[in-house]
Amino acid sequence: MAIDDLNLLDAARSVRLNAFAPYSRFLVGAALLGGDGKVYTGCNVENATYGLTICAERVAIFKAISEGARQFTKIAIVADAASPTPPCGACRQLLWEFGGNLEVILGNLQTETGRHRLKDLLPLPFDARLLG
Ligand code: THU
Repeated sequence: MAIDDLNLLDAARSVRLNAFAPYSRFLVGAALLGGDGKVYTGCNVENATYGLTICAERVAIFKAISEGARQFTKIAIVADAASPTPPCGACRQLLWEFGGNLEVILGNLQTETGRHRLKDLLPLPFDARLLG
């Protein structure tokens, strides 16, 4: 049975609780749906040097790639914030590489707060097609 969007958001909410974010105290969870129907989750992992911090989305992508997944259809991203938490620029680029124009579902602890296509968040992407 295909996982629905509510379950994908719930998976992001659950993994968010594992976030290591003592510096920002901004916990984020991401759940990436693979073309194989599997869900790959990630949370943000911060570091005392700050700059080595990695976002929840990239943790989810790298986990998925390392497990052999190569195609993705959706990602749910959750933070405890009234305003939507869209992926940062670096994560958009990484998502484009592996997910193309995937659906980005944003949410908080209570509800969905936004829904976008990655193409709208990254309108002129650099990708392998431009390498010649
Ligand atoms: N963060 C994410 O994990 N994903 C986002 O989409 C936005 C920001 C993290 C990075 C950092 O640990 C904290 O949120 C504050 O920027």
